[in-house]
Amino acid sequence: MITLEATGAAIPIDDHCVAHNYDPLPVVAASAEGAWITDVQGRRYLDCLAAYSAVNFGHRNPEITAVAHAQLDTVTLVSRAFHSDRLAPFCAALAGLCGKNMVLPMNSGAEAVESGIKVARKWGTDVKGIPANAANIVVAHNNFHGRTTTIVSFSDDETARRGFGPYTPGFRAVPFGDTDAFADVIDDNTVAVLIEPIQGEAGIIVPPDDFLPRLRSLCSQRNVLLIADEIQSGLARTGKTFACEHWDVVPDVYLLGKALGGGVMPLSAVVADSGILGVLHPGEHGSTFGGNPLAAAIGSTVVAMLQRGQFQCRSAELGAHMHQRLRQLIGRGVTAVRGKGLWAGVDIDPGSGTAKDVSVRLARRGVLVKDTHGSTLRFAPPLVITDDEIDWAVDQFAAVLAN
Ligand SMILES: Cc1ncc(COP(=O)(O)O)c(C=O)c1O
Repeated sequence: MITLEATGAAIPIDDHCVAHNYDPLPVVAASAEGAWITDVQGRRYLDCLAAYSAVNFGHRNPEITAVAHAQLDTVTLVSRAFHSDRLAPFCAALAGLCGKNMVLPMNSGAEAVESGIKVARKWGTDVKGIPANAANIVVAHNNFHGRTTTIVSFSDDETARRGFGPYTPGFRAVPFGDTDAFADVIDDNTVAVLIEPIQGEAGIIVPPDDFLPRLRSLCSQRNVLLIADEIQSGLARTGKTFACEHWDVVPDVYLLGKALGGGVMPLSAVVADSGILGVLHPGEHGSTFGGNPLAAAIGSTVVAMLQRGQFQCRSAELGAHMHQRLRQLIGRGVTAVRGKGLWAGVDIDPGSGTAKDVSVRLARRGVLVKDTHGSTLRFAPPLVITDDEIDWAVDQFAAVLAN
């Protein structure tokens, strides 16, 4: 049994000088490899969060770190003031993976979302012919797209919003999964529908099977861009390269991040055809670090790894095993299990404690998961996890619930 209280001096120092915008588990990581994290006192934890899916390929994946080391010895940053020999190959490869022909490279996920919103609004003005400042974008209730001022403006999570107004106008929210509700609010000034194909932070909410196909048709009929935020759901997490593939849906715009940087660098992207991304001209958008050679070299490697397909297969196969094991706990402290691939939202019976309590008790047993929305735990291990490790993690979970 692990005593979390003896985690060294880092936690009190964190409390003093690190802004309290997160509520971390009392675990102080010192190193990590594959699916495992080791703390400052040498205790090992099975990571079943994978940095919210940014570490899909495992901590310090050797193929990714080799490229990163080599790139550190050549060139790391020139800004977009110059070209680099890394950016174009990365963008061409990523566009190919998405079946599109243009990429806007950024850094964080929220920046990709912000950029997607800007591109959609500019497309609305320049291509669709909407009057200036009249564009609207339709989003889903319980969305999570990041934490910037504009993004929290269309969140309905009061904790994320309260105190941060005034808010950016131009968004309409309707229930996730309800295509008719989307149809009702789309009007002549709608430029885009922005959705997570599977809602991650909301608790791994998988929509009804007809939702995305019907939304795709609706957007095409009404000349509205379908923007899929695959920042958490994409890049092999659900057993496919993109979660949209589960329903054979191709969005007009992909928003990517997290695992695109291989767990090493912040790297995000807006990916679309030039008829959409081509609306941006010099000076209209940018980021000093966006598309830097170090991130681009890593991103190219990530795309090459995804093109081989084995991470998608691992996620599908091991995910089926993980879901089957987790479902056995329904009625034994668990009320529901949702998700696809190695991505599961597990609702905890209130009688077994809050999801936060359960995550702390699990950490004491060496398994790291994080709660979301009070009563849900998210299991999203690195895709390099093994069947035996999944069994061990679920056994620890069962033991915590039984106590
Ligand atoms: C679907 C989705 N979009 C956007 C973001 C924001 O990404 P970042 O934290 O890198 O800004 C997240 C983060 O969890 C996310 O899950």
